[in-house]
Amino acid sequence: MAESTRNATLNIDGKLYELPVHSPTLGPDVIDIRKLYAEADVFTYDPGYTSTASCASTITYIDGDQGELLYRGYPIEQLAEKSHFLEVCFLLLYGELPTAAQLEDFETRVTRHTMLHEQMQYFFRGFRRDAHPMATMVGVVGAMSAFYHDSTDINDPWQREVAAIRMIAKMPTIAAWAFKYSIGQPFIYPRNDLDYASNFLRMCFAVPCEEYEVNPVLSRAMDRIMTLHADHEQNASTSTVRLAGSSGANPFACIAAGIACLWGPAHGGANQACLEMLREIGTPDRIPDYIRRAKDKDDPFRLMGFGHRVYKNFDPRAKVMKQSADEVLGLLGIENNPTLQVAKELERIALEDDYFVSKKLYPNVDFYSGIILDAIGFPTAMFTPIFAVSRTVGWISQWKEMIADKEQKIGRPRQLYIGKPRRNYIEVEDRR
Ligand code: SDX
Repeated sequence: MAESTRNATLNIDGKLYELPVHSPTLGPDVIDIRKLYAEADVFTYDPGYTSTASCASTITYIDGDQGELLYRGYPIEQLAEKSHFLEVCFLLLYGELPTAAQLEDFETRVTRHTMLHEQMQYFFRGFRRDAHPMATMVGVVGAMSAFYHDSTDINDPWQREVAAIRMIAKMPTIAAWAFKYSIGQPFIYPRNDLDYASNFLRMCFAVPCEEYEVNPVLSRAMDRIMTLHADHEQNASTSTVRLAGSSGANPFACIAAGIACLWGPAHGGANQACLEMLREIGTPDRIPDYIRRAKDKDDPFRLMGFGHRVYKNFDPRAKVMKQSADEVLGLLGIENNPTLQVAKELERIALEDDYFVSKKLYPNVDFYSGIILDAIGFPTAMFTPIFAVSRTVGWISQWKEMIADKEQKIGRPRQLYIGKPRRNYIEVEDRR
């Protein structure tokens, strides 16, 4: 990072401290507090990291007020319309859009890593059939550390590259096999003559008894959903991957940690929770009661798929997803899908309600995605695994950037201690 040319002055009890200010390519300036504790014997306090930049990054930029999302500088709307997921993977991993030759080589490398070590299938069989696919994915991805020893040395750039390709290539197979196992159907192996999204759909929905024809409308929708979910700056699961990686843990263990964090309903689990909420609402006339509950401080209910830590305007991914939902359901002849009607009416009512307007709560990426995934034929339990498949490239790109960042060191936050002061041990007979 370039040397700072400006300082911020902090006054603590009359003593002044000069803190360097760094200016980004885009977005807010940052105040560099790395020397603050050593010089002023104070910590900063920021639970949830609402005002804290954890790293310098060149990968993704979000402007929450403008509702802007850029992957390596390219707007998400343009990538969703003109690009495709593996090209976006190349862009996120290497920083530039590939030439035709680079793209062909990258797609070939990914395609040839889609199979799992044959012995790994026994991990799936160790789970109950009704295990949530996310539980299976956390377990199987973590177990990859035990199978792919030749790509776990984080200090070897070539092994980091191989681990990245393996993760991107194998996650669809792992997610599809977790799904197949949960419904008692045999595993379907990847095919090298299919594109990434089509391969994933076939592994999920084909059966050995007959040929499976990939519907191009569905594979295009699947590919676009993957692009929209590919990366998103320093969100909770990406920060988890970076923190795990900062200790030197191998990439498979770090991605398994990211999957675990993504599972939460406040994060990637919201797409499943949102569709289940829309189904529970059922009809537009029941919406006002749910709006009332979402506004009631004594009711833990939140409008799933609404709100965002960064976006205080429309999530640009939600806009693209809404257009895609209309297109896909229209092409499938189910444009009158009741859940889509409830979603659109819920969005309309919420965006006219002062509570949501004043708190700048808009639909996020999870609000419409479930409607498309449901129309493609996925059960709600597969929604977050699909988010994990898509976000793997973001996680691994951010992990690679963190490993190569000379300023990075093991992540170890401090705390505001509000517990008991020092006190002596009390023998059990003296306790009250
Ligand atoms: C993702 O970070 C990322 O980039 C994540 C993600 C990615 O691509 O990686 O974009 C993916 O996780 C999208 C978010 C999916 N989650 C949901 O849809 C769950 C519902 N949303 C909320 O739980 C919430 O909006 C969060 C978790 C997304 C954001 O929470 P914040 O930033 O901590 O905001 P907050 O909880 O402090 O809320 C601010 C206010 C609160 O009211 P007050 O205490 O100020 O009175 O808004 C209210 C909240 O109660 N509020 C909601 C609400 N979201 C926030 N009220 C009702 N319904 C909601 N959905």
